[in-house]
Amino acid sequence: MRHHFIAPSLLAADFTKLQAEIDLVNDSDADWLHLDVMDGRFVPNITFGMLIVEAIRKMCKKPLDVHLMIVEPEKYVERFRDAGADVISVHYEACDHLHRVVHQIKATGAKAGVALNPHTPIHLLEDLIEDIDLVCVMSVNPGFGGQKFIYQTIPKIRKLKELITTRNTRTLIEIDGGVGLQNAESLLQAGADVLVAGNSVFSASDPKATIRQMKEIGKLEILV
Ligand code: DX5
Ligand code: ZN
Repeated sequence: MRHHFIAPSLLAADFTKLQAEIDLVNDSDADWLHLDVMDGRFVPNITFGMLIVEAIRKMCKKPLDVHLMIVEPEKYVERFRDAGADVISVHYEACDHLHRVVHQIKATGAKAGVALNPHTPIHLLEDLIEDIDLVCVMSVNPGFGGQKFIYQTIPKIRKLKELITTRNTRTLIEIDGGVGLQNAESLLQAGADVLVAGNSVFSASDPKATIRQMKEIGKLEILV
């Protein structure tokens, strides 16, 4: 199995002790910190915006993976980049001019991600895949943490992996929603490169150990 990334999702953290939760991520084997920005329009929930991302940037030593669940994301791309985002993902469903937005993100120096809702098929990215740094396959309907993993996502990951391999691009496959130790291995086997994990990490009795275990999946296989 290839080297994979773990991106804990801060949405599941205790916001009354944000510094401690971020320190936990800093001191762990996590690769990125995943931040869920919600506007109450694209999704039925509101979280935080660039002001908080900027504060988190100061506390966090890992790259920030910013998942924009907002309408008209093109209005805010530069401001999230200025706030410290390293990866900026926009939703396919929220963009009329996705090609333009992807290149707008790249022009800021950030990596460009495109997120797909569970009902949005992979083939819709066929004509843009070469330009995309990361595809975030949603395995729950975006808006809330702690939801049940939708199983149709696994064949979707396989399809996306096939597209990426055929086109010989370096696009990363990220999987977001309901991910934990119980399904991490199947997701990696299907082709996922980045595992986003909210509740499975922050609600665990030992979050750092959980991150380490997720990170170590597949390593034994290499030794054998
Ligand atoms: C859902 C968010 C996810 C969420 C995942 O809209 O995009 O990143 O934090 O949370 P869990 O891992 O608890 O499903
Ligand atoms: Zn997310």
